[in-house]
Amino acid sequence: MKKSRIGVLTGGGDCAGLNPALKWVVKTAMDERLEWERGTRYEVLGIRDGWKGLVNVDPACPDTEGYIVSLNPGIVRTWDRYGGTMLGTSRLSPYDPKNDQSKTVIENIERLGLEAVIAIGGDGTLAIATRLSKEGVNVVGIPKTIDKDLPETDYTLGFDTALNVITEEVDRLRTTAGSHKRIFVVETMGRTAGWLALEGGESCGAYIILIPECDFSMDRVNELVMEGRRAGTRYEIIVIAEGAKPIGSSEFVKREGTDSFGRKALGGSGEFVAQGIEEATKLDTRSVVLSHLQRGGSPSAHDRRMGRHFGIAAVDLVMKENFGKMVCVRNGRVTACPLENIYGRLSLVDVATQYDADRYNGRRTILNT
Ligand code: F6P
Repeated sequence: MKKSRIGVLTGGGDCAGLNPALKWVVKTAMDERLEWERGTRYEVLGIRDGWKGLVNVDPACPDTEGYIVSLNPGIVRTWDRYGGTMLGTSRLSPYDPKNDQSKTVIENIERLGLEAVIAIGGDGTLAIATRLSKEGVNVVGIPKTIDKDLPETDYTLGFDTALNVITEEVDRLRTTAGSHKRIFVVETMGRTAGWLALEGGESCGAYIILIPECDFSMDRVNELVMEGRRAGTRYEIIVIAEGAKPIGSSEFVKREGTDSFGRKALGGSGEFVAQGIEEATKLDTRSVVLSHLQRGGSPSAHDRRMGRHFGIAAVDLVMKENFGKMVCVRNGRVTACPLENIYGRLSLVDVATQYDADRYNGRRTILNT
């Protein structure tokens, strides 16, 4: 029987859904029943800490840092119950223009004897996968990010669990907001995409939802708040994406500088809006930043199931030697698209069809668009 070795890694920000995908990559690749049909016995190596593992490992030396771990179905059996990633992750880009280590990665993939690498990640990790694929490496991608901003797919792992966190946390805030007649401005993650704020805001029933795709007017926010109070509300929940900004301003930034993908650390939009409301309306207002809570917790049922389907589909692509692809889901069907279709592109909320720019909320007509 032919023997073959594949590597799997998780890169970028962690989230729920990574471990289910890892479990099903390993279980499918090493499924003994399928082995006979395929005529190939697969070995799966887990690469720790994303691309950093492939930069730092020295295949000629004993792997004292533990960048490579041999996986099997027994090891991954319970992984789908857990959040985060059992393999660890990092935001290191081997193509960082200040320190290009891509040649080392390509050499190490060869020296480790990997026929293919399955990379589970968001736009940064999969951009690296695309570039490696162009340089002749056999790569398959699995989409994950709580931002849900990858094009070509209706779902990215981690998003549903993050929506559940937003909904649960806002439920908690409602009791204290109501008791004190306060306004709570809740800041979500999502970078430049409003999916998390919009769908999280819709799920938790927020009064106002502010997203990066539609710059807001502070006056209009205050007008809506006062309208609510006149109608008799005791408190308001406002959900705002970290990347949302007032008309004519740039995004709020938490820290100066950028990461190795050239991205800024966003944050502060919620506090800005809370202060703006309190100043103008004199209503007691607080801001809460949900931050990394949205990436934590055990995977929701949907993330476990999608992790399973994406993991299996990724191995199907490896079996067919159909490399340079990302598995994806469209209209409920798991399929695949060329990695280069996602390179340098983001999926953002279409304000015209998916947002109500007057009420600053989700749409009130769905079938009449
Ligand atoms: O891309 C996922 C994400 O959680 C964004 O929503 C957020 O802006 C960023 O990562 C936070 O990154 P870090 O974990 O490096 O603070």
